[in-house]
Amino acid sequence: MRLAGAIFTNVTKMLDFYSQFNPSPLSIKQFIDFGLNACESKSFTFLKKELPVRLANIMKEIALLPENLLRMPSVGLVNQWYERSFEEITRFEQMEPDPPTLTQFCERLVHIRNRHADVVQTMAQGVLELKESHEVDPGTENSIQYFLDRFYMSRISIRMLINQHTLLFGEQLGGKQASVNGIGNGGRHIGSIDPACDVVAVVRDAYENARFLCDRYYLASPELEVLQDGVSSLRPMPIVYVPSHLYHMLFELFKNAMRAVMENHGTAPPPIQVNLVNGKEDISVKMSDRGGGIPRSVSELLFKYMYSTAPQPSKSDSHTVPLAGYGYGLPISRLYARYFHGDLVLVSCEGYGTDAVIYLKALTNEANELLPVFNKTSSKFYRPSSQLADWSGTLNSSNQCRREKVSPLSSPISHSL
Ligand SMILES: Nc1ncnc2c1ncn2[C@@H]1O[C@H](COP(=O)(O)OP(=O)(O)OP(=O)(O)O)[C@@H](O)[C@H]1O
Ligand SMILES: [Mg+2]
Repeated sequence: MRLAGAIFTNVTKMLDFYSQFNPSPLSIKQFIDFGLNACESKSFTFLKKELPVRLANIMKEIALLPENLLRMPSVGLVNQWYERSFEEITRFEQMEPDPPTLTQFCERLVHIRNRHADVVQTMAQGVLELKESHEVDPGTENSIQYFLDRFYMSRISIRMLINQHTLLFGEQLGGKQASVNGIGNGGRHIGSIDPACDVVAVVRDAYENARFLCDRYYLASPELEVLQDGVSSLRPMPIVYVPSHLYHMLFELFKNAMRAVMENHGTAPPPIQVNLVNGKEDISVKMSDRGGGIPRSVSELLFKYMYSTAPQPSKSDSHTVPLAGYGYGLPISRLYARYFHGDLVLVSCEGYGTDAVIYLKALTNEANELLPVFNKTSSKFYRPSSQLADWSGTLNSSNQCRREKVSPLSSPISHSL
């Protein structure tokens, strides 16, 4: 008992200590240079500080969540996972990078990655538990939205760091040479980054997988047209990026577009067009559907967690963590786009269709990680405040969650990249 108490006090002190540091964002260029040139011990030395810093920054924000949300069982579980992982990593603080320590560190990272595999779904479940048991006011709703964006972004970044280290130096993949030369790692990859990631191939892959779901539910699906600079093209378009991130965004956008098109057309659905443009500063991937569009009155809600026009998944399926149709597709995809300073925007014409555009940075030195920082400014978003409208006739629509139509394409999604 006394030992547990001592560990707890120690962890609290360590949390205070590490949360004083700002996370150090890396660019894709730095990830690549590091992957090509750095040795395992250098990576170890960087991560044994950077991981606790990133964990501590977000754990401080978890602690500021409304009391009743913190009491929800699923949020408690997530909190425990973070505390345990933080404690496990900080054990390496004073260790030297000798071979046994490096092996242990790598194994620990794999363990932590597995422990956190279901964080997105479990946190989503926690928010749902709160909404089912309490009346949630708009102020709290805003704090939760603010928190979830930062929390999931932090998670994406932590997984990126862990993936780079374990793919480059992990034994199970054959270590650094395998990752750089491509043995067992899909060719030229540097960790999870592909320096010649073909956008066209990723578009087709995401389309085929979304189409499979679409065919299953609607017994038909829209065709795909790929254009480059506005002209139909079969040419590859290589960019430097993390293919799994790009795939995630495209798969979500395709599912949404297909669902809209099928609900609006049924037989003879019009094709979905994807236009790719590689500019000097931005790479743009624009997906256009003729699925009837979205009214402006709900456009503000699209990136809200839990906003969905799909029905809630059935409780009888309680052995699987429910996320399907919970409206996580767009907000999480936008985080992936923003993670390396890109963006994801939707422009819609109600009655016709929707354009969804993914913007990515064309230059690897500009593709910097976007990371949440815990400080006085971020803390103030968690304080309850009475929000008075400062424009006439402002509607507070933040908790309108319409669930009208069946969403067959809101299938269970894995957010464990
Ligand atoms: N291309 C589109 N055309 C029309 N409506 C769309 C389109 N994309 C998104 N929407 C609307 O935005 C809502 C939110 O989309 P989002 O992808 O975040 O959640 P979802 O598809 O409902 O559930 P899931 O979490 O499974 O993706 C959808 O329910 C739908 O009403
Ligand atoms: Mg969706």
